[in-house]
Amino acid sequence: MNILVTGGAGFIGSHTLIELYRAGHTAVVVDNLCNSNSESLRRVEGIVGVDGIPFYRTDIRDREGLERVFAMHRLDACIHFAGLKAVGESVERPWEYYENNISGTLVLVDVMRRHGCKNIIFSSSATVYGDPAEIPISERCPKGRCTNPYGWTKSMLEQVLTDIQRADPEWNVVLLRYFNPVGAHPTGRIGENPNGIPNNLMPYITQVAIGKRPELGVFGNDYPTPDGTGVRDYIHVVDLANGHVCALKAIERACGLGIYNLGTGHGYSVLEMVRAFERVNGVKIPYCVKPRRAGDIAACYSDPAKAERELGWKAKFGIDEMVRDSWNWQRLNPDGYN
Ligand code: NAD
Ligand code: WQD
Repeated sequence: MNILVTGGAGFIGSHTLIELYRAGHTAVVVDNLCNSNSESLRRVEGIVGVDGIPFYRTDIRDREGLERVFAMHRLDACIHFAGLKAVGESVERPWEYYENNISGTLVLVDVMRRHGCKNIIFSSSATVYGDPAEIPISERCPKGRCTNPYGWTKSMLEQVLTDIQRADPEWNVVLLRYFNPVGAHPTGRIGENPNGIPNNLMPYITQVAIGKRPELGVFGNDYPTPDGTGVRDYIHVVDLANGHVCALKAIERACGLGIYNLGTGHGYSVLEMVRAFERVNGVKIPYCVKPRRAGDIAACYSDPAKAERELGWKAKFGIDEMVRDSWNWQRLNPDGYN
């Protein structure tokens, strides 16, 4: 299939492009580069051995820009990564998050249907479960109250896309709820490239390892978890990327609406992540315990059985590969793509 990949220059998008080409698909990328660098696309081309993946520096809110892309290419489906994703920033700038993520998706979906392209895979998040009613979290678990505007954009967009599919069964909509994506491509050529101080645990650890930050702050050690620190379901970004290839197969079978968790099913605490990083990479990570971070929950990990049953997808990489590849990327690219 020929796939429109919005946000394809970003962290998860760039890794997904590689798996799409490996599976025999082709792609057209739309990204406004507000949180990425087109160098990632050049590196993807190098890894897959393809010259000139079509790329448009276009905002998904720009209707005319998207119309031009659809006029130039026959597109079978869209994998929709484009969006703002910084939780803290979304609390400070809610309008910008609702406008970018929600208006952008509404414009995108409208242009898609005008061109008869009614297949979409949407990047959702475990954040839609809020403080989950049960752990491990299966898709039967009800959605919860999100703790920030970013999370609400995901929750609301899931509803928008669900309603669109219900009203017009020609649509195939796959909502993928990612748990905590980490790692990088094993070549060390592409990876996560955060601006400024990282919000997420793994890029913070790698920046401590390379000496950019003196120590990791561990946000709370008094949670009701085995060692008191927060537990999450970290998933290697290459596994996550492959989840999208499996979701495309479901779309080819005309799946209608599908909702899937993409996680490993294993929870690791902050201190377990630190120790795994030190053990695998032989680098010391100094840390100090800080107060809990507002909005954090104690533990969150998936029941990924539905994705295995219905999509034939299962995470293959474990914690050792996650910390190895995160460090490999950081070590080889101390300043990311800059
Ligand atoms: P990212 O910031 O690396 O990638 C997002 C891309 O979208 C960037 O390249 C950015 O430039 C682009 N973009 C943003 N707004 C745009 C717009 N209006 N028009 C065109 N391009 C735009 O983030 P990522 O980690 O690769 O995340 C991809 C998707 O997955 C996002 O929707 C994110 O919310 C979702 N997600 C991410 C995580 C995570 O922890 N990384 C977890 C769950 C869900
Ligand atoms: C993981 C654990 C922290 C940083 C966020 C979003 C979620 C999704 C993924 C997009 C927690 C602890 C972290 C640090 C720490 N993104 N931590 N020191 O919060 O589970 O999820 O990213 O959809 O929506 O909320 O991920 O990596 O920020 O934190 O101790 O410097 O690491 O408290 O227990 P989180 P995270």
